[in-house]
Amino acid sequence: MPPKSTEQSNSKLPGQVTWNPADPSRQFYQTPQRRPLLDRAEGVYLWDSTGKRYLDSCSGAMVSNIGHSNPRVLEAMRRQMDRATFGYRLHFENEPAERLAAQIVELCPPEHERVYFVSGGSEAVESCLKLARQYAFASGQDSRWKVIFRSPSYHGSTLGALAVTGYQPLTAPFLPLISRMPSVPAPRSYLDRDSLTEDERGIRYANMLRDKIIESGPETVLAFIMEPVGGASTGALVAPDSYYPRIREICDEFGVLLIYDEVMSGAGRTGRFLAAEHWQIKPDIIALAKGLAAGYAPLGAMLADSRIIDPVMSSGGFQHGYTYAGNPLSCAAGLAVIQEILEHDLMARAQSMGELLKRELQGLMEIYPFIGDVRGKGLLLAFELVENRDTMQPLPASLNAYARLVELAYERGLIIYSRRTRDGIEGDHFMVCPPMICTSEHITEIIGKLADSLDALQIEFGLSGRGGE
Ligand SMILES: Cc1ncc(COP(=O)(O)O)c(C=O)c1O
Repeated sequence: MPPKSTEQSNSKLPGQVTWNPADPSRQFYQTPQRRPLLDRAEGVYLWDSTGKRYLDSCSGAMVSNIGHSNPRVLEAMRRQMDRATFGYRLHFENEPAERLAAQIVELCPPEHERVYFVSGGSEAVESCLKLARQYAFASGQDSRWKVIFRSPSYHGSTLGALAVTGYQPLTAPFLPLISRMPSVPAPRSYLDRDSLTEDERGIRYANMLRDKIIESGPETVLAFIMEPVGGASTGALVAPDSYYPRIREICDEFGVLLIYDEVMSGAGRTGRFLAAEHWQIKPDIIALAKGLAAGYAPLGAMLADSRIIDPVMSSGGFQHGYTYAGNPLSCAAGLAVIQEILEHDLMARAQSMGELLKRELQGLMEIYPFIGDVRGKGLLLAFELVENRDTMQPLPASLNAYARLVELAYERGLIIYSRRTRDGIEGDHFMVCPPMICTSEHITEIIGKLADSLDALQIEFGLSGRGGE
């Protein structure tokens, strides 16, 4: 299909700018790098304005869980737009927000019965931290304020979320502005070279939380925040199974609230609506975003049970709020996204396609000895490059493999998402997380393009394996 015209944006209304795709951009983000102009997107593919097609094998930033341009969602949004796009929450309740809250509660294990809508992941995490603190106040535990986090981890870019994030390049410049919280190592047992079993390692990592609570002063510890399946900072880290129940036990022992950041892992991507369900864990507070409205509109949510909400509400209410909370258009999109997931059983599909994709990625390890690990759950998957698989020594940081492989894949029409594994300083991992609608043919295409890109990287960096000498 030919690219759509940009003429409309160049029509001349009084005072309107003329804009040309070749103009220098007036926007700025993390890097000065320019990217092609997006023309359209459908299913698992995006097209740029030259007509080049890209397979979105990381769903943007692990967002577009049901693929692009889904007709049901677009229609639901159009219908809502014709009724109302905004109604301030202090003036009106709205039907999409009420229905979506009820739907989320229905999909979550019992007791997570209250929902607080926001516009994205960082806002959801901020809300969790503030709710935890207000709960402490409301329940006579004012001395509790420390939120222990794992390192590495990523919980968002706002200052509160950064205070509990372990990813050096993102936190270092802002340390003077934030109240830095205590941390424990993320359970990266795949790096361990000891004689323990996986279960023993899981307990060892969980017990680090216990030690940290005692060291910090249990009466001062408010909460522990963790991603049940890691996101971009660890590359889809999954802890040993024994870790999860032990963490719950430790939090209960000290009356510490357990916050699950399911911004990336939630809304079905791991094969369950909440990743917590894989281990039958009930966190006290949960953050959701990304896949909730799956890229159709900005939306996030915080979930908690009445045990936490009631004391806060009866002590004067939650002193927190965002203008766009419970926006009817975003909630209409979120509701249609969930309907689509349920009607097409996309969580089961995330599980089965995830197993296939993981097997295929593990197959690449046989060809490329510089792939050190493949990990994740459902369609939240990643692989990590290393210099030496036995020691898990990373590639030299100066090679910037994490950026280079993304470019090589991009040239081949494949989009993957990368970060530095070891606290953001070195190590190279790549998220491979296509939309939950992907088929085995899409997975074949992903693996083919990825192998081509890895061949090119291998030659360029002189690494050993298929494409090298
Ligand atoms: C686990 C996790 N928490 C929070 C966030 C922040 O979400 P947002 O970028 O929507 O603010 C992200 C984003 O990648 C994330 O992966």
